[in-house]
Amino acid sequence: MAVLGALSVTLEVPDLEEGLRFYTDAGLEAASDGSTARLRCPGQDRDSVILIGGSPRKRLHHVALRADQLDKVAARVPAAGGAVTFAPDGFEDNGLWVRDPHGMLIHLSERPADPELAEAPSFEINGPGRVTRKRRSAMLPGSAYAPAKPLRLGHLLVFSPDVPKSVDFVTTALGMGLADRAQDVIAFCCARKDSDHHVLAFAKSPGVGFHHASFQVADPDEVGRGGRALIEKTKEAALHGDWGFGRHTIGSNFFHYIQDPWGSWFEYYSDMDHIDDYSLWTPTNYGMEDSLANWGPSPPRDFVHNYEVETNGPPH
Ligand SMILES: [Fe+2]
Repeated sequence: MAVLGALSVTLEVPDLEEGLRFYTDAGLEAASDGSTARLRCPGQDRDSVILIGGSPRKRLHHVALRADQLDKVAARVPAAGGAVTFAPDGFEDNGLWVRDPHGMLIHLSERPADPELAEAPSFEINGPGRVTRKRRSAMLPGSAYAPAKPLRLGHLLVFSPDVPKSVDFVTTALGMGLADRAQDVIAFCCARKDSDHHVLAFAKSPGVGFHHASFQVADPDEVGRGGRALIEKTKEAALHGDWGFGRHTIGSNFFHYIQDPWGSWFEYYSDMDHIDDYSLWTPTNYGMEDSLANWGPSPPRDFVHNYEVETNGPPH
């Protein structure tokens, strides 16, 4: 064992206020001291997104993962092509800081697991030969629903110039498992015990960068409702794409992605595959036709575009 789950992503951004507005519109709670903003899921006692203001353009600073056996990880990192390093300026020198073979900074922390989420009502569907809901409507009027509530950060997807190399590093040095992949273009990695189908995923790009953070909500309806609401709130922004409502083949989750102010993405998800014991899981190498979605609208043209490797960033 080593990596046990996703904790947070830290981004350097040009406009802190813009970032605060986007993530609070998405349902996260914020605290800001004017130079750094910390955003967390309502009810959680830890941050999931940290924004450092004052950068010329958006840039992935580091990803943070919950882990154990940090001494063993530290010993394995150099042979796997990475490096153990010091905490960057402004960050506490706790846990283990490592750089992967492409220079991406990863912070591993031994912290307790989040409390179990409260059990949600089951998502009932009437189907052929199986009527489970009688004499009542599944849906209330739209105004009866509270805004989407992100329950927890489920996974992070980052860009990598060499996806197999990134997977080799996190599986050999960080003790993760390859859940599934689509050729050498995208790969999804999990913890080896009681894990969402993916905790950290990699998509091929000329350079390192942040693609999206994905937050679990109560059910598929909330994925769709939350997505629509966030689109309405962000439609005046210079970058305001969305992709969804749809369902992934890899991981099986329902999804809706909304573009953040810098061209990366926020995902609401529901019903992710679960890997309780990685030794009993067999990874599949999917064709590219299944790499993005099983069904849903066509993705925006810049859905897998890494704005962090351009010399001229997106408009702000
Ligand atoms: Fe995702």
